[in-house]
Order: sequence, then structure tokens, then C-alpha cells
Amino acid sequence: MCGIIGFSGSLEAADVLVTGLEQLEYRGYDSAGIAVQSKQGIQSVKAVGNVGALKEKLKEKVFHGSCGIGHTRWATHGGVSEVNAHPHQFGKITLIHNGIIENYKEIWEEYGAGKTLVSQTDTEIAALLFDKLYQGKPEETIKKAVSILEGSYAFCIIFEDIPDIVYCVRKVSPLVAARAKEGSFVASDVTALIAYTQDYFVLPEETILVLKQDTLYLEDLDGNQVEPEMLHVNWDTTAAQKNGYPHYMIKEIHEQAEALRNTILPRIKDNMPNFEAEQIPDSIFKGIDQIKIVACGTAMHAGMVGKVLLEKRVRIPVGVEIASEFRYQNPIINEKTLVIVISQSGETIDTLASLRQAKSKKAITLAIVNVKGSTIARESDYVLYTHAGPEIAVASTKAYTVQIAALVLLTMRMAYVSGMSDIEVIKKDYELLKLAEEAVHISLAKEEEIKELTNILKEKEDLFFIGRGIDYALSCEGSIKLKEISYIHSEAYAAGELKHGTISLITEGVPVIAIATQESVYAKMISNIREVRARGALVILITQEGVEVEPSIYNYHLTIPKLPDEFTPIPTAVLLQLIAYYTSVHRGLNVDQPRNLAKSVTVE
Ligand code: M6R
Repeated sequence: MCGIIGFSGSLEAADVLVTGLEQLEYRGYDSAGIAVQSKQGIQSVKAVGNVGALKEKLKEKVFHGSCGIGHTRWATHGGVSEVNAHPHQFGKITLIHNGIIENYKEIWEEYGAGKTLVSQTDTEIAALLFDKLYQGKPEETIKKAVSILEGSYAFCIIFEDIPDIVYCVRKVSPLVAARAKEGSFVASDVTALIAYTQDYFVLPEETILVLKQDTLYLEDLDGNQVEPEMLHVNWDTTAAQKNGYPHYMIKEIHEQAEALRNTILPRIKDNMPNFEAEQIPDSIFKGIDQIKIVACGTAMHAGMVGKVLLEKRVRIPVGVEIASEFRYQNPIINEKTLVIVISQSGETIDTLASLRQAKSKKAITLAIVNVKGSTIARESDYVLYTHAGPEIAVASTKAYTVQIAALVLLTMRMAYVSGMSDIEVIKKDYELLKLAEEAVHISLAKEEEIKELTNILKEKEDLFFIGRGIDYALSCEGSIKLKEISYIHSEAYAAGELKHGTISLITEGVPVIAIATQESVYAKMISNIREVRARGALVILITQEGVEVEPSIYNYHLTIPKLPDEFTPIPTAVLLQLIAYYTSVHRGLNVDQPRNLAKSVTVE
């Protein structure tokens, strides 16, 4: 959570910082602030709300300077207020922080005597610590401070008596940095730097980064120079803009066919999935006796689809685990377990901790990750990158469908390697995957219809999604998408489970989105739909084209093209995303920045 940017160079720092914060806003938007080193000293401006609110405040205050730091906050420690907004200043120190300082009380007790704090944050106590330790040598101060600080952090620090230099250090929380002709940059992620360069590096942990106007360098805690490992992104600024769409979410929904192509095609050789280029050997699929898929939120829902596919086609037990639970449950895994972690950002703290847990138990780890060079990608034994491009909207859309595509490719390869499917079946699978990808356009063509029908959802307070098998996994995803951006209470239920309690909540007019794309359980689904219909539910039914449906069982009917059961999730997901999107739009909400949320959950 929280977006960080630091700059030292030849431009007006305030402009660079604010523009960067706009790109990072999806990481948190409770408050925002910047601090710039100017002729008058370090000057800060902070505002409650998003970067727009900060920009308003900046209109009243003009200051010049070419070095500074900026922050957009997702509140953890201390409420949403201007005093709790970053940057925090204590003595000669002004800093911004992403993460949580766990031993802030102990630090306060040891170093706080006679001092007064203005905020309720752990960050201000960290600033106090840096100030207490500072004796004119920033690197020495940082080294001492990191030996005391416990928790996770990414800090960018400016010292009152050291002009034009930003010092940075991190543990767990991400920071990337780059050099460009305009100066030296650091940020929480590369989207904030892309306007200046496509080449960047991830700041290694336990390394101090020094940003100067004409250079930047890294040194480890023993003072040794560190050479950064450079990375390159193959997308540019336009990929992280709205490009005429009213919201990032709808733009990203529309980008899915391309994202799928970019994810699938590089892995296809002779019409077969092939992971040679990413050095994922077939040997890791042999000799394993279970798979665990570990992730959070939408990524976990993609994992639920993966479980159905893998168990059906590879006949190996697959458990889908919520990362925040898995990490604390001493899971029964060993060197015969393949642990697949899934994460768009590659920085989700619980998924990362689960990965580390899996590695400590000698499991084989494979990450499905969208952000290149992210911590999860770097720490996994193997990485299968999805190529969705930058996903900015908090509600994940294109990242989800490409995660499913990656899982389909893995399933195909594993089915082939394990001898469960022969080469001809796999080649046929690839044809079907292409059809599923093309079906995205057919779902998108229903946008106007969905815009219209979601008018009936906008006044509702409760809603249910039901489905069986893969459609239950899709129900979970449809439900999270709807509730996170429309604030309508919704629940996903395995359709056969309704009768065991939940059906008592179905009364006249309660919407039920019934997903019935799975031929294998279609008749059972129809019975479940009749049950809710008989109790007055307003049913929005999703089926494959061409199936026989009695009009009396639904109020609205959406279809996806005819496909075998395993290939329906992608076009179905697009319909569910559009339902969530337009419901939120009709309710007049901030689609891209839903309340209380942030895109990247890097704190527990
Ligand atoms: O970056 P990750 O994929 O690890 O993020 C996991 C979840 O936080 C994320 O999918 C979240 O559930 C989305 N906001 C849902 O749209």
C-alpha cells in the first residue's frame, strides 16, 4: 500500500512528484503530500483525499526546487487526517514511508524522552529515530536505524542540511529506481517512472540508494558499491493512461483480448504450450504428489478455476489456499509439492510470506505474476509472467483473465507431460483457448445491454451469485468485483449449498446472478435456479448460447459462445466485470478508487 516517489534532477520537483503520485494513486488515496528542498528550506504540502486534493492545495503555494519526495497514503497506523499524511518531519529529517514499523512503541520508549509527536503514526517515530541517530552522515544514520527498525519499510529521506539528495532504503516494501536525462528517480513501482525511462531496477533489500541530480548509486550496509540489475518494461506511458475511457477499469476490461494474446502466444510452439523460454522444465511436473495454489482475492479466484482444470485434466490433488491463512497454518507440504503462487502485483505481503513458507519446506515454487521484477517473481523458483501490461484500477480485470490463461497453459502442459492427454488433445485445447480468447469480443459486444440491465441493480442492497464447479469459482469473482466497487452486499454460493441456509435470504426481488455455463451440471443448476425463482428472486442468467432455457426461470439472460466447460471462464468473467462496472457507474461511485481499498496490499 502507499505510493512513494522521490526525485533529484533538473526539473521542478513538485511537478515530477505530483505527476508520479497520480500514477501511483491506485496504491492508496486517503491522503497525499510532497516535500521539496527549496531555497527556503524543506517545504511540505499535504492534503486529505486523493492527489486531486493535493493539487488544489498546491495552487495556493508555489515553491521551487529540484529535489523532493512525495507520498500517497493508504492509512494503517493512525486515522485519515492531514497530520497523519506523509511526508513526516522530525528535526532535520523529512521522510516518506510505506510499510509498518512493528517496534514503534519500543523505539518511542527508548528515544522519545522529552519529545512531542504531532501525528499518530509509526512513521513519525521512525523519523524521530533517524533524527536521533543523525550526526551529519546519512549513510551511517540509515545503517544504524535499520539495525533497530523492525517490520516492513520503504523509506525515502531528505536531510535538512544536505541539499538535492534523496536517500532510500527498504525491507519487504517495494522500491524501484531509474536514471534518466532529467535526473534520478525512485518510486514504489515503475508506472511512476515510465514517463522518463523504460529501464529501471529493483532496489535490493539492505542496500542504501542515493539519488543525486546527475547520478545515483547503491551501497550495501558494509559500504560496498552494489551494481543494480537492470530491467526493461516493454510498455510505455500510453499503456498507463485512460486513453479516452472514463475509467481505468473499463479500459482494462477492453484490453483483455490483447492481454490474453500477449500471455498465450509467446508460450506456444508447434501448437503446444511450451515453457522453455522461461526455463520451466517439465521435470518439475513429474514426481509431485500434490499442488497448492496460494493467492489473495481475485488472484485466489483464478486459482479456484485452476484447481478444477488441473484436477480434471491432470488428476492430481490441488488445494487452493488463502495466502493470509496458509502462511500461519504450518501447511503439509514438502519437496513433492508444487506450490503455485498467483499475484498481479507480485508484492502482496501474504502471498510473499506464503511463498517463503513454501520454500522453507522445500516445495517447488512457481509464480504466476504480472509485474516484472516484483519480489514474488524474484523469489520463486520459476516464474510464468502474465503480460497484461499495467493494471491501474483497484478492481482487477485483465490480470484475472490472463491468470486463468496461464493456468490453462500449465494444465495443458502438465496433462501432456503426465501422459493424461496426448498431443492431439493438447493441440485441440489450444484451438479452444483461441476461441475463448476471441469470445472476449462477443462478451464486450454486450456492453450496452449490460449497461441497461444493471439499472435494476443500482438500488439493491443484497445480491447473490450462484454456480457450480468452475461457475462457483466465477461466482466468487463476480461477487468480489461487484462489492468492491458498488458497495452492494453480495455473496457467492455453490448453487447446491443454498438449501443449507442461505436460501432463507432469497425473497421477492432479491437479485441472483446464476452462472450456468457448465454443461456437466447444467440440469442441476436449472433446478437450483427454479428454487430461487419460486421464492421471488430476480434472476440474471448466464449460459452458453444454444442451450434450451425456459423463459419463466429468468428475468434477464446473457450468453457466451458455445465452448467446452473448461474454456468458459474467460468470456463469462468479462460479462461479470461489465455487470460490476456499470452497477458502480449507475450508483455514481468512484469506480477506480473504491473506498478503503488499495491495489497492492503490502501490509498485513
Ligand atoms: O496483486 P495481487 O494479485 O496479489 O492482489 C491480490 C488481491 O489483493 C487483488 O486481487 C484484489 O482482490 C483485487 N482488488 C480484486 O479486484
